Amino acid sequence: MSIIKLTDKITSVGVINPNLRVFDVVIPADYGTSYNAYILQGNDKTALIECSHDGFSEQFLRNIRLAIGEDQLDYIILNHCEPDHSGALACVMEHYPQAQVIASQAGALYLKNITKTEGFSPKAVKQGDTLDLGGLTLEFIPAPFLHWPDSMFTWVKEENALFSCDFLGAHYCEPNMLDTEITYPECYQAAFRVYYDGIFAPFKKYVLAGLDKIKDLDIAFVCNSHGPVLTKDCLLPKAMELYRSWSTPEPRANKLIPVFYVSAYGNTEKLAHAIAKGIREAQPAAEVECYDIIKHDLCKLSELINACDAFAVGSPTFNRDAVAPVWHLLTSIDAVNSAKKPALVFGSYGWSGEAAANLSARLNGLKIAVHPEPVRVCFTPAQQDLDCAAEQGKKFAMCL
Ligand code: FEO
Repeated sequence: MSIIKLTDKITSVGVINPNLRVFDVVIPADYGTSYNAYILQGNDKTALIECSHDGFSEQFLRNIRLAIGEDQLDYIILNHCEPDHSGALACVMEHYPQAQVIASQAGALYLKNITKTEGFSPKAVKQGDTLDLGGLTLEFIPAPFLHWPDSMFTWVKEENALFSCDFLGAHYCEPNMLDTEITYPECYQAAFRVYYDGIFAPFKKYVLAGLDKIKDLDIAFVCNSHGPVLTKDCLLPKAMELYRSWSTPEPRANKLIPVFYVSAYGNTEKLAHAIAKGIREAQPAAEVECYDIIKHDLCKLSELINACDAFAVGSPTFNRDAVAPVWHLLTSIDAVNSAKKPALVFGSYGWSGEAAANLSARLNGLKIAVHPEPVRVCFTPAQQDLDCAAEQGKKFAMCL
């Protein structure tokens, strides 16, 4: 992508990566992505906001030169230091050694560890600090956990432009930069949601705090770091409304306590239903359902395990471990927001029966509050075993 002038003083100099299909190892990027960056030209000074992925350093440098010619960069501002924004920094610093690098306090520390450059000393800014480029005033607004501790916004009041880094972005790219020019709006909307789910859903309370911080600004442009720039008269109001609604907790009258299981010969399934019966006895108003993991959509179960108040999970033992579908479900747990969530593990086994202990170890690693008494039964549960399982389910649920 070549440079695109957004206003007289703001030029987009980012690059696109249309071939990317997975971002950060796990986040789908069906429509590629862009690494957006911007040149701000004041009357006296010039700043670059954001860098790019290091795989695009040469193209990125060419774009900067196209925008500023032989002029120098005075400042490089990184609103967030993840390597898709800081990867090209070393290369830019090499060509513009006089430019002062600016980041949040956490960001300045991260940059030292990311660049590992002797003597490199980025300037740390805090809430309300400003930078005058001559007719352009940059105000720094820390936005922690959107989505890293270092994240911040940069507000330029004279241009009504908010530089939001990842916030309100999308892994989506077209050769254009503005939301008014999107060729495939349905694809963009899908990418916008997937991006929110992958990057911001674990940080909902911070999303709401971030929206509150900017609610009184008269924003004409959100110059984000991935996907189209959002404008006041096109997609920006809707995008902010969606972030608010996706991040606002849904009120729920009753506790949600699902029981997940996989069962080879019906024995772990019997335990699941007995445990559910015990949970219902202790929590009659709770929503308690049993879910055979292989018979349900994993995305739905992932939503459930993250939304619930507590859960039980069971697996038979196969070759000294729990079985893969159970592990797949547990990999979808939002570890950021699941600490101390109560869980009960269970399973039928034939020989040594390691599944329950292995599930406990995994859940303990996620800081989940695992009930200290797993329900384990050798082969077929007798009525007495089912009564014990129900009793454990009841005991587990009485603590909720
Ligand atoms: Fe676009 Fe958090 O990196």
